[in-house]
Amino acid sequence: TTPTNQKITATAHTNIALVKYWGKADQSLIIPQTDSLSLTLKAFYTTTSVVFDPRLSSDTITFDGVLASHDDQEKMSRFLDLVRAQADVSLRAAVTTVNHVPVAAGLASSASGYAALAAAASRAAGLNLSRHDLSRLARRGSGSASRSVFGGFAAWHRGTDDATSYAYPIDEQPDWDLGVMAVVLDQTTKKISSRTGMQRSVATSPFYPAWIEANEQDFDAIQVAIKAHDIESLGQITEHNALRMHALTLSAEPGFTYFNGATLAAIELVQQTRQELGGRYYFTIDAGPNVKIIGLRTDLETQLLPRMQAHFGAANVLLTAAGPGVTIQADNP
Ligand code: PMV
Repeated sequence: TTPTNQKITATAHTNIALVKYWGKADQSLIIPQTDSLSLTLKAFYTTTSVVFDPRLSSDTITFDGVLASHDDQEKMSRFLDLVRAQADVSLRAAVTTVNHVPVAAGLASSASGYAALAAAASRAAGLNLSRHDLSRLARRGSGSASRSVFGGFAAWHRGTDDATSYAYPIDEQPDWDLGVMAVVLDQTTKKISSRTGMQRSVATSPFYPAWIEANEQDFDAIQVAIKAHDIESLGQITEHNALRMHALTLSAEPGFTYFNGATLAAIELVQQTRQELGGRYYFTIDAGPNVKIIGLRTDLETQLLPRMQAHFGAANVLLTAAGPGVTIQADNP
């Protein structure tokens, strides 16, 4: 393959897992223990540009205009090595990334980040990957990134090896009145990475085998709910799946949690408002303290939004909807 010598820019959106990925079967290939399913979000995304440049002696990576930390450089360089190997290219790359996501606060910037990087780097290296193969490549950077290749509802099939572990679309443009609220409770980097948290949960939680079984049931049931546009069923599955995932961290050794005090307060406010006003909105939480709420857009807007804003500050409550899959642009076509 001949690299394009062209700067290629890709945009990918984050996703929230409704049926979660929590545990690897293969650490280095990132093969998960279970299938998972998510909704890609409109408001949170990453834009990444890549150019392979013969003048560079090492990869140069910037995040929001600042040179990446040593650890991030290494991780992304290793990912670029996968692209170079696939394309049979040895040139180093200049990578610029702009995040429109509160980084590492459980709003999954790694999902949009690696989906965008996989798309931009593979195209810049001269590859023209299908979305199926792009999801497999993005998976190697961060498991959840595989699903961000697609818009709307997307699933990640667990598989058993590199070729059979990929994401696929379930409903890329859901045509019902869905909304997602993100409540930002803490923007600082999480103390226990998802990699470490998963590893510890798989290795030490006595609940792990039960999680696998329950997750399989959720994965099947939520697809029925999505097809039927049944928000109540979708929401109930989403809530219990999230709580069960977090039960794995609490039951690990040593036990830990991604929740903080505000996380519990936000959960309580969702439940209380729902009980009082009868609206349809349901919470979920990833590997950080922030709370995301999926529901009917009108119910979210009229019932939950004012209460959340009053409690957590208007600037910390964001309302968005389903978003698109990854897109690629050549800067000088
Ligand atoms: O892909 P990672 O390593 O960022 O892990 C994602 C883990 C969760 O966000 C908690 C669940 C998921 O399926 O996205």
